[in-house]
Amino acid sequence: MRVLLLGSGGREHALARALHRDPAVTALHCAPGNPGTAGIADNHQLDPTDPVAVTELAERLAIELVVVGPEAVLVAGVGDALRTAGIPCFGPDRDAARIEGSKAFAKEIMAAAGVPTAAARVCDSAAEAGAALAEFGPPYVVKDDGLAAGKGVVVTGDRDAAAAHAAECDRVVIEEFLDGPEVSLFALCDGVHAIPLLPAQDFKRAHDGDAGPNTGGMGAYTPLPWAPDGLVDEVMATVVQPTLDELRRRGTPYVGVLYAGLALTSKGVRVVEFNARFGDPETQVVLDRLATPLAGLLQACAIGGLDPAFRPEWHPGAAVTVVVAAEGYPAAPVKGDAIGGLDEAAQVPGAYVLHAGTALDADGRPVANGGRVLSVVGGGPDLATARAAAYEAVAHITLRGSHHRSDIAL
Ligand code: AMP
Ligand code: GLY
Repeated sequence: MRVLLLGSGGREHALARALHRDPAVTALHCAPGNPGTAGIADNHQLDPTDPVAVTELAERLAIELVVVGPEAVLVAGVGDALRTAGIPCFGPDRDAARIEGSKAFAKEIMAAAGVPTAAARVCDSAAEAGAALAEFGPPYVVKDDGLAAGKGVVVTGDRDAAAAHAAECDRVVIEEFLDGPEVSLFALCDGVHAIPLLPAQDFKRAHDGDAGPNTGGMGAYTPLPWAPDGLVDEVMATVVQPTLDELRRRGTPYVGVLYAGLALTSKGVRVVEFNARFGDPETQVVLDRLATPLAGLLQACAIGGLDPAFRPEWHPGAAVTVVVAAEGYPAAPVKGDAIGGLDEAAQVPGAYVLHAGTALDADGRPVANGGRVLSVVGGGPDLATARAAAYEAVAHITLRGSHHRSDIAL
């Protein structure tokens, strides 16, 4: 199978790695990819959000499966263009991707499908926002309606800060605060049926102890030893399948990964958010444990005919990833600083380093080129071993001004 992967982050390096080790994959191309994917795939310098350019490249390379990483590619209609050209694409059309692209749309789908989620109000003015803040009370949850790379959400006890965030956005969703631990569950969907991957947990705040601003995600681990039995089956039955059914009923069948961000509250499971793509960095740990070849699974979704009873096989044990972020991330990441210690980190047993926001300088040396620079993965027979491997590898990395959390999977 000839595969083209779109995107350039840590998630894409993890996807490329899993696709590369699938014996069915005969050619692996990335656009644009990163210095990490360059070692296992052919990188093509092209804007992955350009539907015409992507379709031309896929045709020129005789691609049999396109796998989309970032949401911006989906929202730009790349899935639509590929399917129109008859090229199988793992990733939904633009209309179905609104499940992530618009928080108000996601709420509408969940209401229609009877999916449990936080009560919410969509507000278009300061007066509406003020009324919703008063209705729900603290802690206040204020979400920019549009895409904001995981940074459009403010959760605060400070009424003025909540109102100020609402005023910064055109349209906001203000909702009930959900207590309880969060779980990310990825379901692979072919438009009709879905199968679950392993649940994972992400660490969204920038600093230890869940302090600091929200980020795209600073680390993750899988599996979740504390998750209740039957959680995955319950989420498939009460969240994923009703959502797929509703999208299909509306004529926008959902093909790709439906990412359910869940809160396990005292009142039961609630959806915090949907994403239309693999989570980053949860994908890094989930794919580390995946034993079933990935390309076949994604192709079954893209062309249809997924067997809903099929369950992927998993390597026993656990995986942990720790994100090394650039100075100033998430507010204003500093680019261009040299990254050292990559070879030493790769020597740590059970660990490896995925490139997330890196580039090569004029001399071919790796430098920081994004907020989340590296995603260091450790695997092992249990969480403690996996965690120790990841942190031992992180300790070898040098990057001026960088920061990482020291409490991932603790
Ligand atoms: P989102 O972009 O919707 O995932 O929100 C980012 C993060 O904000 C989530 O992962 C949660 O940690 C937090 N969050 C979002 N919605 C709520 C809510 N209703 N109650 C509590 N925390 C929330
Ligand atoms: N890790 C959270 C996300 O991918 O949105």
